Amino acid sequence: MIRGSLVIRPFSEGRDEEAWISIVNEYSGHFLGPDFIPKGLEDLGWLKNSPWHDPSGMFLAELDGEPVGAIMIEVDERAGRRGMMSIWLRLSYVGTELERHMILFCLDVLRSRGVGRVRTWVRDNMTDRIRLLEAEGFRKIRSFSVMKLDLCDLRTDIKGCGCVRLRPIELARPGDIGLLTFLLNEAFKGQFGFRPTTVEENKAWLSEPGKEFYGLFAYWGRTPVGYVVLEVGKELRRTGRKVGEVSTIGVLRPYRRLGIGTALLLEGLKWLRERGVEEAVLKVDDDNLTGAVRLYEKLGFRVACKEFVYERPVCARQRQT
Ligand SMILES: CC(C)(COP(=O)(O)OP(=O)(O)OC[C@H]1O[C@@H](n2cnc3c(N)ncnc32)[C@H](O)[C@@H]1OP(=O)(O)O)[C@@H](O)C(=O)NCCC(=O)NCCS
Repeated sequence: MIRGSLVIRPFSEGRDEEAWISIVNEYSGHFLGPDFIPKGLEDLGWLKNSPWHDPSGMFLAELDGEPVGAIMIEVDERAGRRGMMSIWLRLSYVGTELERHMILFCLDVLRSRGVGRVRTWVRDNMTDRIRLLEAEGFRKIRSFSVMKLDLCDLRTDIKGCGCVRLRPIELARPGDIGLLTFLLNEAFKGQFGFRPTTVEENKAWLSEPGKEFYGLFAYWGRTPVGYVVLEVGKELRRTGRKVGEVSTIGVLRPYRRLGIGTALLLEGLKWLRERGVEEAVLKVDDDNLTGAVRLYEKLGFRVACKEFVYERPVCARQRQT
């Protein structure tokens, strides 16, 4: 039973930003800990202008007029109209009926939009969320490892492929964002959850306000064959948390197992170290078919925690309340 009057209503621009950010920061800061970069008004402004943003998918949950939860629902047309739901709430309501109501609300919205399946992400420490999702018929369909490396432990006895030339990605240079988009889409074809990204999406991603990005292309002769992109949260650097992330890495299929991924990573991690970063973090699909987990292990990355993707058909019968 929920004590009080619960209203879940559309996000109101110009009015709800502060509440939204405060709830997201409280929830994610708790469960993701130091891996989470707190959001600010600038981030919300950036999100609203991004090509993937759908304002009709943002909702605020209020209990007796007090904002207690935030919801984001996305429908990906290019992934066969698959839904994605994200829920954040004040920590005092975690695991309560309120959280369950928010899950059911997302299902209702997706059902009304004719969506067939919905996915959501959880970290392994979100035990209440996992319990509630499973009770509502969600099943775990994929497991990802969050891997970390203390850059002091970066192995120095490993060499990447000596036949490739690496050059920094320059976003202002004509063609670089298009080339990155091409390589990323080619490398990830067939991977779990893949759908081709567009130049506009990648441009928006690489202009996220709280982050500084660095990327490299690998050339085999004159042919671009791979890339890596890394990022550092500006806020983390300011507050002394010296963590950087390997955002994405890919090598074209015919050029794999030649040490190109290793060369890209070693050079990228060097950049992180030069930025004062002490720990590198990345996320990898445990069932990655291309040996990515072993590539990271070889360089010294170790599993710190897990994240899961849960899914269910939207229209399936819900548990009786
Ligand atoms: C993952 C990826 C970037 C690796 O690039 P790569 O150039 O083939 O990597 P390397 O040749 O440097 O491999 C380094 C080590 O990783 C491991 N490795 C790489 N591919 C592997 C495979 N298919 N099977 C087993 N081990 C593998 C090996 O230990 C290898 O060292 P070794 O060849 O000396 O045994 C590439 O396969 C790729 O683009 N995959 C698709 C995109 C992707 O999944 N990116 C990672 C997302 S987190």
